[in-house]
Amino acid sequence: MGQQYWIILTSDKVAAELLQKRGGKYSSRMPNYYFYQVLSRSKGFIGCSYNERYRKLTPIMHGILGQRNVKEKSDLIDLEYRILMQNLYQASININDGFYPKKYLQLAALNIITLICVARRIENIEDSSFKYFENFQKSHLEFVKVTNRLGDFFPILKWFSGNKFYNKVIEHRNTLESFYGSFVKEVKDDKEKKPCAIRDLLNKVDEGILDELDIVHMTDNIFSAGTDTISASLTWIVAALANNPQVQSKAHEELDRVVGQSRLPTISDEPNIPYIRAIIKEGQRYCGPTHLGIPHYIEEDDEYNGYHIPANSAVVLNIYGIHMDEKRYENPKEFKPERFLGITERSAILANGNYENRDHFSFGAGRRLCTGIHLAELELLLGVSRLLWSFKIENASPLGKDGKPIPINLDKARLGITVWPEEYHVKLVKRHDNVEKILFDISQ
Ligand code: HEM
Repeated sequence: MGQQYWIILTSDKVAAELLQKRGGKYSSRMPNYYFYQVLSRSKGFIGCSYNERYRKLTPIMHGILGQRNVKEKSDLIDLEYRILMQNLYQASININDGFYPKKYLQLAALNIITLICVARRIENIEDSSFKYFENFQKSHLEFVKVTNRLGDFFPILKWFSGNKFYNKVIEHRNTLESFYGSFVKEVKDDKEKKPCAIRDLLNKVDEGILDELDIVHMTDNIFSAGTDTISASLTWIVAALANNPQVQSKAHEELDRVVGQSRLPTISDEPNIPYIRAIIKEGQRYCGPTHLGIPHYIEEDDEYNGYHIPANSAVVLNIYGIHMDEKRYENPKEFKPERFLGITERSAILANGNYENRDHFSFGAGRRLCTGIHLAELELLLGVSRLLWSFKIENASPLGKDGKPIPINLDKARLGITVWPEEYHVKLVKRHDNVEKILFDISQ
C-alpha cells in the first residue's frame, strides 16, 4: 500500500513458521504504527520495536499481567464479575423490552484494569469518568486506524491535508498524556500507598529503567489493550448465544449438574465445565474482537519458500482469515462449541505450542503474543459461566415473517482495531428463583 509493503498471513502454517519459528526477525512493530507516538518521547510497550528497550519492558509487563499477579488479583476480579451480573440483573428488570449489554460489559472490563493500575473502581455507567473514558477510547481508536493515517503510506496525501491532521494528532496526544498522567499523579499522591501497577512502574523510575512519560504511555497501552478486547468478546458471545438457544441449553445443563443452583461458578470450576470452555474458545474463533491483531514488522530482508520478504515490511496475522479456513475448522460459519470439546488446555498454553494443536489465533502469535492472555482467559471464564448460570439470553429483535425474532446479524461488524457487532437487543431472563439471592448475597 503506497510506499509500505504489507505481508498478510492467512495460513496457520506460514504464520507459525514466520512469527513463531523465526520470531527473532518477525517481532518488531511498525515504527510509525502509533503515529501520534512518533511525535512523543515514548513508544510505550505495544508500539515498541523489538529491541533492547522491549526486552527490558517485557518482564515488567509480565510482572503486572502475568499468571502470578492475575492469581493474586483473582478475588477482585471475581467480585467485579459478580457486580456485573448484579448490574445486568437490575437492567433486565428496569428495561422490559430488551437492551444492549455493551456498556455494562465495558464497565466490568474497565474496572478490572482500573483496579490493577490505580487500585480503585468506577461505580456505574452513569459515572462521568466512565463516559469520559468511553469517548476518549472512541477517538483514540479512530486515530490509530490505518485508514485515518493514509499519509503515512501515500506521502503526497500529507501535502493535500497540510498540517490539519498533524495538529489533531498533537492535540490528541496531549489529551492522552494528561488523561493517563492524572492517573500517575493520583497514585503518587495516594497517602495510603495502595499497591497497584502504576506504583510498580514508578519504582522502575527510581531504578532508572523508565521515565514518567513511559509510564503514561504504558498505562495507556494496558487500558487500550485490556478493556475493549474483553468487552467486545463478551458482547459478541452474548449475541451468538442469543442466536443459538440450543447451545445455551447444553451450557445450562452442564452448569446445573456441576455447579448447582445455590452458588455462582468460580474459577475452580474450570476443569469441570468443558462446554463453557468450548463456548469461550468458539466465541474467540467465530466472532473474536480483532480480525488482524497488531501488525508485526520485519527490519531485515528474509526469504521464505521462494518468496522474498523485504526489510521494513508490515507482517499481518490474518486472524479472521485463519478462523474461517475450512481446512482448519469444518463449517467455519457455524457457531459450534462442540468442535473444541476435546481440547482441555487454556489458550495461553496452546499458543506457544505446535500450530496444528492451537485452539485459535485470537491472541496473536510468536514473541508478541498478547501479554494479557491469562487475565483475558480468567475474565472470559467468569463472564461467560456467570452469564449462563444467571440468565437465559433471549433475542429481542423485531419479529420476522415466521413470527420469530430476526436473528442478530453477526456478519455485520463495526470494523476497527477492535471489532464490535452492530447494536442488538436481548432480554436476560433469570433462570431460577435463587438467582437474585445468590447474586446479591455478599457472604457468598
Ligand atoms: C479476549 C481478549 C484479548 C484479545 C483477543 C487480545 C488480543 C491481542 C492480540 C491479537 C495482540 C497482538 C499480538 C501479536 O502482535 O501477535 C495483543 C497484544 C497485547 N495485548 Fe491483548 N488481547 C486481549 C486481552 C488483553 C488484556 C486483558 C490485556 C491486559 C492489559 C492485554 C494486553 C496486551 C498487550 C500489552 C499486548 C502487546 C504485546 C506486545 O506487543 O508484545 N490484552 N492482544
